[in-house]
Amino acid sequence: MMLSQQDAEFLKKKIPQWRKDPARFVKEVWRVEPTDQQKEFLQAIAKPGAKVSVKSGHGTGKTTCFAWIIPWFLTCFAKAKIPVTAPTSAQLKDALWAELKMWWNAMPVQLHDLFEWTNDHFTCETGSFAMARTASKDRPEALQGIHADNILFLVDEASGVFEEVFVTAGSALSAENARVAMASNPTRVTGYFYNSHNINRHFWEKLTFNGEESPRVSKQYIESIANEYGRDSDVYRVRVLGEFPNASDLQFISLKIVEEAKNRNIRKEQFNFAPTIIGCDPAWTGPDELVVYLRQGLYSKRLYTCLKNDNDIVTAGIIARFEDEYNADAVFIDQGYGTGIWSAGETMGRSWNLIAFGGKSSDLGYANKRAEMWGNMKEWLINGGVIEDDEILTNDLIGPEAGVNLKGQIQLESKDDMKKRGQPSPNRADALALTFAYPVIKKECYLGNNRQQSYDPFAGM
Ligand SMILES: Nc1ncnc2c1ncn2[C@@H]1O[C@H](COP(=O)(O)OP(=O)(O)OP(=O)(O)O)[C@@H](O)[C@H]1O
Ligand SMILES: [Mg+2]
Repeated sequence: MMLSQQDAEFLKKKIPQWRKDPARFVKEVWRVEPTDQQKEFLQAIAKPGAKVSVKSGHGTGKTTCFAWIIPWFLTCFAKAKIPVTAPTSAQLKDALWAELKMWWNAMPVQLHDLFEWTNDHFTCETGSFAMARTASKDRPEALQGIHADNILFLVDEASGVFEEVFVTAGSALSAENARVAMASNPTRVTGYFYNSHNINRHFWEKLTFNGEESPRVSKQYIESIANEYGRDSDVYRVRVLGEFPNASDLQFISLKIVEEAKNRNIRKEQFNFAPTIIGCDPAWTGPDELVVYLRQGLYSKRLYTCLKNDNDIVTAGIIARFEDEYNADAVFIDQGYGTGIWSAGETMGRSWNLIAFGGKSSDLGYANKRAEMWGNMKEWLINGGVIEDDEILTNDLIGPEAGVNLKGQIQLESKDDMKKRGQPSPNRADALALTFAYPVIKKECYLGNNRQQSYDPFAGM
């Protein structure tokens, strides 16, 4: 339908105002008042190139925000495209796309008639459009291959969207002029959405919609969750507070354990009597880091990190320097890519230990050596271990999932399986885990304080 001259004039005047202020668009077009939380979101997405990630409790009106900004973006920007996705058809079509239809029907007729709503497209007379696409692991192209002057990516229930979708969309999401909005119940502590609030947080404008603070969420709902699961439960965190759970069912080490270990203080006299152990996780593939970690009793410290380095002699030299500097009692190196470093150490007269991650565990409860070391590291974290405030280490520690094999032994997720889930290889945590490979005795206990003296088992007999 053609707009009347008068309506066209009116729109021309309004568009510059609405462009900067989507909340005004919502108020003037639908005569509804967004909540303060929704206003915060609308303000954030108004900025060109905005990258906004909303974690939220249930029912705060995040899907509605998306339904509002689709007509807003298409009205206010020329040559605009909006790829929209969610994990399942139910979450996309029955929620966001149905909500969009509802708000479209509630628009003043002049604006309403500028648009056409179908099962998977919402098209403006100008040719700009939004398209709804779900994705599967095998067909992850939901956000891919769309080019436009003005682009807005929308991902609802982002926590459950396959990692492949984000990988396939690749650089399009991070492009400077692309706006991206993700919203989700923060159900999973891994993946792209989780990372947007953690390791990649500097890249995102992060919002939290706490249900306790939302006028859209009923007190009865909050009480029912609190009564059924408790206010300290993960269900309450995810469904009401909009916070990530402390532990996923499969996650081996919970965020809570890691946060507590990070927030502890330790004094020198609480650990300086303990043996000093160095763990080294050499890099496996190109983008991996080589990491050297030190642990002394409850204390730990990252000594060194560098990107994959093929020069084993240089690396061995670095480890030897640390060994001397800290008077280390043992050095454990992952055998995977560490044999060259170990041999270089041998030629320098060092007796370091190679640890096979896949080797037999000394504890029958674990499927292999790596699971055992991680198990010991988890115990240590729970029982007073102290770690540095290091975002990457935190992410590494909580990254791996664990299960129980047919023999009833704890098995840790392999680095390869983690990569398939889009999780980086936990190099820093593996280096720290290596310090738990075997019990270590302080050198001076068996060498004596004077190292000049030779060891004579028959002395004094
Ligand atoms: N500011 C508002 N004014 C009027 N109605 C609103 C407002 N915000 C949301 N609603 C209505 O409240 C209902 C719930 O909103 P919505 O589905 O957006 O919540 P949500 O946070 O996406 O929930 P979920 O956690 O289930 O995904 C919808 O029917 C929506 O139309
Ligand atoms: Mg929703």
